[in-house]
This record gives sequence, C-alpha cells and structure tokens, in this order.
Amino acid sequence: MEEIHLDIKIEQYAMEELSDSEQELVRSAIKAMHNAYANYSRFYVGAALRLANGQIVIGANQENAAFPSGLCAERSAIFAAQSQQPEQPITTLAIAASNDEGLLKDPITPCGACRQVILEMEDRYKRPVRILLFGARAVYAVNSVKDLLPLSFVDANMR
Ligand code: THU
Repeated sequence: MEEIHLDIKIEQYAMEELSDSEQELVRSAIKAMHNAYANYSRFYVGAALRLANGQIVIGANQENAAFPSGLCAERSAIFAAQSQQPEQPITTLAIAASNDEGLLKDPITPCGACRQVILEMEDRYKRPVRILLFGARAVYAVNSVKDLLPLSFVDANMR
C-alpha cells in the first residue's frame, strides 16, 4: 500500500491586503447577498465574478418551497454570465454569506456541485478561476478550483 498525498494551497488575507480590484469584487459579493431569496434556510449567499473584459456579474441563492428547485449564488452568477457573454472567461469569483446573526466569521466555501461547475469553466476556457472566500475574520483565496476539488472529474477523464 502506498499513500498519495496531494498538495493544495490556500492563501489567507486580511481584506485590505487584497488588490483594489479584488476588494471591489468581494464587496460586490457582500452586496449581492442582499438579493438572496433564502426564506427556507435563512442563509444568504452572494457571489460576484469578474469576466476577462473586467465586467462584474453577481448572483445570490434562490430557494424554492420544492427544495431541489433552488440554486446556489455561485451557479446563479456563473450561469447568468455564461448565458449573456459566453465568449468571456471568468477570471475571479468572490463569495460571501450571512445568517440572521450577520456575516459569517469563517470563510464560506462553495458546495460540491458549485465546485464542479467552476471546474467546467476552467476546462471550457482552459484558464484557472481565482476564488475569494470571504469571512469576517479572513479571506481565503485559491488560484484554481482544483485546490478545492482534488481528483477532479472533467471531460478528458472520460476519454
Ligand atoms: N448556498 C449557496 O448559495 N452557496 C454555497 O456555497 C453554499 C450554499 C445556498 C444554498 C441554499 O440556498 C442555502 O445556501 C443553504 O444551503
């Protein structure tokens, strides 16, 4: 038996250590949180992504009485961007979340399904997506979703 150890890298920042452009993206995600329709979970998530042309597209989680019909903030933003500007790769994605007590202290991390959709973006455009995970105590950053999804599955794995 051999053990395989995989290396992932997570950067930790104070908000003011991020570049102006990344701070703007995180602030957009925090703002987008207020567009959540989360009456069932009372967990409000905002996402903001930057396209290669510099434009910001936001998303917020949208819930439904029939639970599986809702959608996470990340996929709301990604699918909106893809539907409107499919020629534009996504360079960076910021996520923020709050509950009824306020902003989460620890960085929010995307669910497995959203990680898979971000991976599809990396595979489609052949470029990594930098991801900023906001928490009141720190912002985590990864340079590719592969750092959140080791042993990832893409089209090439079926060939
Ligand atoms: N949610 C997101 O929008 N993004 C995440 O990264 C985690 C979970 C949403 C889905 C659901 O509306 C609520 O948060 C509780 O799971």
